Amino acid sequence: MYLLSLVASLLSLPVYAVFRLAGRIWWNRVIALTYDLFSKYYDSFVKLLPGYENASTHALGSIRFSKDMTVLDVACRTGLLTLKVAGKVKDIIGIDISKGQLLRLKHKLAAYTANVHIVRGDAEMLPFKDDSFGVVLSQGALSEIALPRAVIREMARVLKRGGSLAIVTYGKRGIIGLVNPWAFRPVDVENDFLEEGLHVKRLSWLEPHYILLVGAKR
Ligand SMILES: C[S@@+](CC[C@H](N)C(=O)[O-])C[C@H]1O[C@@H](n2cnc3c(N)ncnc32)[C@H](O)[C@@H]1O
Repeated sequence: MYLLSLVASLLSLPVYAVFRLAGRIWWNRVIALTYDLFSKYYDSFVKLLPGYENASTHALGSIRFSKDMTVLDVACRTGLLTLKVAGKVKDIIGIDISKGQLLRLKHKLAAYTANVHIVRGDAEMLPFKDDSFGVVLSQGALSEIALPRAVIREMARVLKRGGSLAIVTYGKRGIIGLVNPWAFRPVDVENDFLEEGLHVKRLSWLEPHYILLVGAKR
């Protein structure tokens, strides 16, 4: 499985270079199209990623949810976090840029409560008012978004004062971390949090190469 992740990272290098050069608008179009095309297979692929599901358990375990809370899952895909949180809160909104992934989430919803809401949109410009959510979450997305700093800024903006924010992203660790162009150094993500006025509550490595960063808005 580790080898699979390594091969995927190596294959992604030229794609990354070309589309970063093409600029944000094209980058977002290609990302949305890619996720639309692979939406049928993506849930199965994610199950093969070492430690990915486990990372979501850690992220959710670091947050206190309550039944009067409204939560946002940024770049929710087919609802890995969204569906795990749905039963613990009043409402949860999942936003993603890929229509194909959101349609898959919609199909799953029949089995869940009506408190899950789906929005198609760009994480760099969240279509929500300031101070709207008690918790904001995001896993596996920051590293493939053209302007990751803008996403942290937006997540902080829509978070209520006193609310918590948790991000899981790829970190520069091990062979995959070195070859994965999307991986971050923990200090860089931490600095982005601090510069957006967030208080860092937890910064840890999750096996094999994920960073979990939990913050709060003062
Ligand atoms: C690797 S998946 C991870 C998603 C999910 N949180 C999970 O853990 O399964 C990344 C997701 O980010 C979404 N995405 C990429 N760029 C985005 C953007 N600018 N705005 C919103 N979603 C975006 C993709 O469509 C995709 O569903």
